Amino acid sequence: MTSLHQFNLQMQPAIDQTMQRVVLSHPRIGQYRGLKDILSYHLGWDVEGDRSEVQGKRIRPLLVLLSCAACNDHRWETALPAAAAVELLHNFSLIHDDIEDRSPLRRGRETVWKKWGEALAINAGDALFSLAFDAIYLLQEKCPEKIVLQSLQIMNTTCVQLTGGQHLDISYENERFICLEDYWKMIEGKTAALISASTRIGALIGGGSDRQQNDLAEFGRSLGIAFQIQDDWLGIWGDAAQTGKSNESDLVSGKKSLPIVFALQQKGKFSRRWLAGPIHTDEVREVAQWLIEEGAQYYTEEQAEAYTRRALHSLADAKLDNNAGQALHELALRLLKRSS
Ligand code: IPE
Ligand code: IPE
Ligand code: MG
Ligand code: MG
Repeated sequence: MTSLHQFNLQMQPAIDQTMQRVVLSHPRIGQYRGLKDILSYHLGWDVEGDRSEVQGKRIRPLLVLLSCAACNDHRWETALPAAAAVELLHNFSLIHDDIEDRSPLRRGRETVWKKWGEALAINAGDALFSLAFDAIYLLQEKCPEKIVLQSLQIMNTTCVQLTGGQHLDISYENERFICLEDYWKMIEGKTAALISASTRIGALIGGGSDRQQNDLAEFGRSLGIAFQIQDDWLGIWGDAAQTGKSNESDLVSGKKSLPIVFALQQKGKFSRRWLAGPIHTDEVREVAQWLIEEGAQYYTEEQAEAYTRRALHSLADAKLDNNAGQALHELALRLLKRSS
């Protein structure tokens, strides 16, 4: 059994227990009829038995706990409230993202706005946002005040970056052309910031040195970028059965994902078609093939690998010579579906 597998078996149930403590045992949530049902549905707790399909991968909390464990030689329980916090924050962003992107499907099921309407979905997202901060306050039970305050500050800054990145993502839909620099800024905010915050907070709670905190934050940042690039690849060449998300291609929605931004710079057949107006569903196959011919698929894969390599360098710089460090290494490779 690999280190990652072993940690995962112990950590996953503890993550959900802590999230449930924050959400389901909250003294007030139960007073508002129906709110708990929406939150439980989105978090996958309405399903009995194996919930792995409907609750998501829980990668960010795992990164918090593994980073903590790697810095303090395996005592990761202290970081559970922070692990719950980043996952709640992530899920707030997904509920709102699905409204913003008009996405009907997530984790193989109807999205919250599709099931309950936009107004209740916005509100449920807001509830999760607030609960994420409740979770951070729980750190007080086991951590010194200074660590709690620093974690709060990281969470707050991350929210500004995440919403900043989402702002760019949404705004770019109305621009026919953006350059690679615009793209990197967008994904750094919308995706890499929270993944980097996860590894940084884990290292902070685990008592890692300033150097280790920075190296792990860099690790998370590069990993987050690689992760989003992979998601962009799937958004064009993946299939719904694999992703659990809508199979309407990013080509139709006009999203400026990496293959598209790259191909726009080539100013070839794809770019001419793109600039002529919205792409229709019946053209998607052909246009996705043009992207391959113009090198966009190759470039996307190359970038995902380059950022994974960068992530692994930063991890090595942190000098975490233990099983949790090894598990972080495995997780980075696993995210790109490569062998460990
Ligand atoms: C989806 O994140 C949003 C992106 C940043 C690509 P995940 O792929 O981590 O979502 P879940 O939580 O596992 O469903
Ligand atoms: C991911 O956005 C980032 C956030 C939700 C903050 P995307 O729109 O690219 O991700 P998916 O494909 O819907 O999961
Ligand atoms: Mg989306
Ligand atoms: Mg989006």
